[in-house]
Amino acid sequence: MRLLIRKHNMRECLKHPVFEIIAGVIAEDGLQAYVIGGYVRDLLIGRPSRDIDIVVLGNGIDLARKVAARIDRKLPVSVFRNFGTAMFRYGADDIEFVGARRESYSRNSRKPVVEDGTLEDDQQRRDFTINALAISLNRETYGELIDPFDGLKDMEQLMIRTPLNPDITFSDDPLRMMRAIRFATQLGYSIADDTFDAITRNRERIRIISRERISEELHKIILSPRPSIGFLLLDKSGLLELVFPELAALGGVEKRGKYAHKDNFLHSIRVLDNICPYTDHLWLRWAALVHDIGKPATKRFQAGEGWTFHGHEFAGSKMIPELFRAMKLPMNESMKYVQKLVLLHLRPIVLAEDEVTDSAVRRLLFEAGDDIDDLMLLCDADITSKNVDKVARYRQNFELVRRKLQEIEEKDAIRNFQPPVSGDEIIETFGISPGREIGIIKNAIKDAILDGIIPNEYEAARGFMIRKAGELGLKPV
Ligand code: CTP
Repeated sequence: MRLLIRKHNMRECLKHPVFEIIAGVIAEDGLQAYVIGGYVRDLLIGRPSRDIDIVVLGNGIDLARKVAARIDRKLPVSVFRNFGTAMFRYGADDIEFVGARRESYSRNSRKPVVEDGTLEDDQQRRDFTINALAISLNRETYGELIDPFDGLKDMEQLMIRTPLNPDITFSDDPLRMMRAIRFATQLGYSIADDTFDAITRNRERIRIISRERISEELHKIILSPRPSIGFLLLDKSGLLELVFPELAALGGVEKRGKYAHKDNFLHSIRVLDNICPYTDHLWLRWAALVHDIGKPATKRFQAGEGWTFHGHEFAGSKMIPELFRAMKLPMNESMKYVQKLVLLHLRPIVLAEDEVTDSAVRRLLFEAGDDIDDLMLLCDADITSKNVDKVARYRQNFELVRRKLQEIEEKDAIRNFQPPVSGDEIIETFGISPGREIGIIKNAIKDAILDGIIPNEYEAARGFMIRKAGELGLKPV
């Protein structure tokens, strides 16, 4: 993202009504306050931002209360006394106040240090020069950009750099190593050499950071326009192995004689990139990233055939719950969704390679349900072969699969399949008690519908049930 504005006075850009109100309060009280951090950065690159951070030389909590009261006497203010911060919501925006600090800025550090400091003390304790820019809200200098660490220049040169010696900045809060890579990915910036070297050097320190905070950064990388930028940097710095060892394990190429397999890490992040233009759905993007996660566990060398990864979709889908647990990702439908896509990710391809029979398409629809369109997107993104003819053939067969899926869905409504005959009806019809037979009959009905032996309708299913039950020696009562 390129620098949009290059002015040392940003008065006209301070459009939010809260700025004038703050300016009024501090003028009366003889205080000094500044807008700082991400809001200023986003203003300069024209990216919308909902969080406004205000730093004050003095008590942030008091100022937050005064400003809130001026807006509306009843406006609730949340106070985080431990961190010396307070915030309120103004319209859709969060306005946060903090006193300028001399020591570590990090609000997440275990022992927050709230020692009063100057504006520059506060700026130099921030993570990156592009996040250390401040704009004055004081009467005489209102709108002036205060940039002691050349953040504007770094923005112009699309560069992530720490204001201080990076070893200090990263040891203040090691999450910043992930943040550097995340900002580089989101904004399309480079990381300055000395900053990047420090990430490599300090990588082990990431272990003290909670999994939740690390996963938040991974989400932001995954939701970027080209996530591969971030994963390549994570890999190069050695962080990947620490924060996502299962993905790191996909890296590398093994050769035996004339046989080599592809680098499955590079393939996975390419598939993720491929899917990005088509979806912002976080978990579909996650599924793209981890679709081959079962490959290392299933890798074999077979004489005359080369490297195989048979069953990697099963192994991979089995790994998902543990992976989600370890990374503190939600253990809910999102996890099940990723698991399902990993399990099914080869099916449309196998279908496209084979003859596209109605029955195979029905089964795929039955298993994928409402996620069929996402699965098709994933499969499309998964075709990364360099062989142009092969890709063209796949794409053509894929179109056929798509058409068939639509045709069969319109005809048979399999997507949200509900068996037309219930277990209760089987029990009542044959006067039997719940047991094995019910499952056998229900399954036989399902298979008959999916195989196209009978239509997905009640009458046909009931007739089939009576025949099937007859084979088991059951008669209607
Ligand atoms: N900050 C920091 N070190 C951190 C986290 C935050 O120095 N580990 C500072 C930076 O100056 C940052 C500001 O706090 O700009 C606000 O932090 P945050 O809201 O987390 O990030 P933003 O920079 O606003 O970016 P985003 O909202 O995309 O996370």
